[in-house]
Amino acid sequence: MKLLVTGGAGFIGSNFIRYWLRTHRTDCICNVDKLTYAGNLKNLDDLTHGHELVCRDICDESCDPTLEDLMEGVDAVIHFAAESHVDRSIDSSAEFIRTNVMGTQRLLEVARRKRVARFVHISTDEVYGALGPTGEFTEQTPLDPNSPYAASKAGADMLARSYFRTHGLPVIVTRACNNYGPYQHPEKLIPLMTTNALEGLPLPVYGKGEQVREWLHVEDNCRAIEAVLARGVPGEVYNIGSGERHNNITIVKTILRLLDRPSSLIRFVEDRLAHDFRYALDCSKARRELQWEPQIRLEEGLQMTVTWYQANRAWVESAKNRPFKDYYSQMYESRAGYAGKQ
Ligand code: NAD
Ligand code: DAU
Repeated sequence: MKLLVTGGAGFIGSNFIRYWLRTHRTDCICNVDKLTYAGNLKNLDDLTHGHELVCRDICDESCDPTLEDLMEGVDAVIHFAAESHVDRSIDSSAEFIRTNVMGTQRLLEVARRKRVARFVHISTDEVYGALGPTGEFTEQTPLDPNSPYAASKAGADMLARSYFRTHGLPVIVTRACNNYGPYQHPEKLIPLMTTNALEGLPLPVYGKGEQVREWLHVEDNCRAIEAVLARGVPGEVYNIGSGERHNNITIVKTILRLLDRPSSLIRFVEDRLAHDFRYALDCSKARRELQWEPQIRLEEGLQMTVTWYQANRAWVESAKNRPFKDYYSQMYESRAGYAGKQ
């Protein structure tokens, strides 16, 4: 198979490329990524075969090779590229609308023209909004996003649906819960708390840390996307979750315990605006129709994850210190940096 992956130098995309090339050794992947602050070539450093990076913006139509060129002869598109951090969308939302909504529209439109056989759109559970203390989101739950990030992902998710309904493009949507694992940018809860604890820095917990998230190891999500490619039905949506739901303070204290660091590092700070209280996914459809099950329990996955961040301090430094540069200088630098790898 030949796959076109967008956003493959970010957290989930790079884990997906590594997983796919490990399990499908003769396949090849074209990875289209703008390499924003969140994209990091070091995420793919160890890849030796089957991967080609094209450093470009999914919104940019004038760039050569064009998106049309890149979709020529591909068996499937897996669209991860996005602005992904809720706090950044609260500070400034324009880039979220541009990449997440307009970028998704560009890809869908090109995929329609090129008659791509399968388009997997990576959405998120945040499109459903927030739950109270009980209940679960099913794929039928109406979308009710609260942050600009979630709203932009809901827009993209609905565009994906519309391209199936209107044009018959074989789109499948996944809505996963919070992923964790190696190569996640240290702006996100688990890597932030882990790396701060390792450095003896304060651990900023929003509000009282009572919000609940469902945690899925990224490799289980990669297996779910593989199952979607193999058995997913065009036009369908699949929730992808683990059932492992914990409030934030419990996660933070577990990380401190695993690292043998004191709870005096915890600082309760001002809450996130419109902070979603709880997410919980009903994943019975994915289990039944995709024959997929998560394999990594949170306790085991967290241990592996904190060990990875402990052992990869140079990667952490590279991720934390990546300044946001403008697109063109970024593109030049990354192309030059990547040349030796191909
Ligand atoms: P990430 O921020 O780590 O990576 C995003 C990647 O997209 C980066 O490599 C970045 O350079 C690239 N990108 C951003 N704008 C681009 C543009 N205009 N053109 C080309 N590339 C661009 O994100 P992630 O956590 O890996 O999330 C991947 C996808 O999964 C996103 O769509 C996100 O909404 C979704 N998702 C994430 C989670 C999670 O817990 N991380 C859970 C559910 C769904
Ligand atoms: O649910 C899926 C979503 O999970 C994805 O769509 C997003 O791309 C991804 O970023 C993630 O969103 P969250 O907002 O849930 O993840 P984050 O790691 O930013 O925060 C997790 C929880 O921890 C949330 O309740 C806010 C809290 N938090 C986060 C940070 C960064 C803190 O208490 N302190 C922090 O410093």
